[in-house]
Amino acid sequence: MKKPYNRNYNRFYGTPMWSFIKQQLPGEIKVAVEIGTYRGHWARGALDNLNIGKLFCVDNGKKGDWVVARKLWIERLGEDALTRAFLLMGKSEQWGQVFPFEIDLLYVDGGHKWKNIYDDLRLWVPRVKGGGLIIGHDAHEKEVQRGLKKYITDVEKVKYKVNRIGPIGKPRITSFWWKKEINAEKTEPNNDSGDTPEHS
Ligand SMILES: C[S@@+](CC[C@H](N)C(=O)[O-])C[C@H]1O[C@@H](n2cnc3c(N)ncnc32)[C@H](O)[C@@H]1O
Repeated sequence: MKKPYNRNYNRFYGTPMWSFIKQQLPGEIKVAVEIGTYRGHWARGALDNLNIGKLFCVDNGKKGDWVVARKLWIERLGEDALTRAFLLMGKSEQWGQVFPFEIDLLYVDGGHKWKNIYDDLRLWVPRVKGGGLIIGHDAHEKEVQRGLKKYITDVEKVKYKVNRIGPIGKPRITSFWWKKEINAEKTEPNNDSGDTPEHS
């Protein structure tokens, strides 16, 4: 028999993720973006645990059956999918070039190849407000580390102090994070897509 849908079930994200974000962003999070939403686990947890005005969830449907994933996302988000959670279907590289709002919280969990991480950071971080929080999942993965390092050295061109939170939920799964400086200069998304043609 099919188990009834459990709204509170959350495989990956436990209290540490939410308490960490609350500690970093204690006020209202007007605009949050999740890159790579899949079936909406993080999105559900974020809306249940954080003071989020609008959450935009980007996904290109690459993982599994995208129609099923969208259906489960809508079921999981329920009424919120009509009021404060918005699914942006398509590539994060494309949405990142046109997204119109300033972001308070950016959660990066889309493609995990180095090029995806690099592209997501170079296109989306310029849209994060000064004082906003950037978190990227799976910081323990080599490809994620490579993309992050390339972004930091090629785009930020500084020795960025990137921290690690976690493990969150499952043991050994960590996230990288940093807060954008309050008076950070406003920049346009970086157009250098890197030199290596490899892409996922
Ligand atoms: C690890 S899953 C995300 C898990 C999700 N955050 C959760 O809470 O369950 C990664 C998702 O990123 C999506 N994805 C991969 N590459 C992408 C891209 N270039 N643009 C948008 N979404 C992408 C995949 O379709 C997949 O659903």
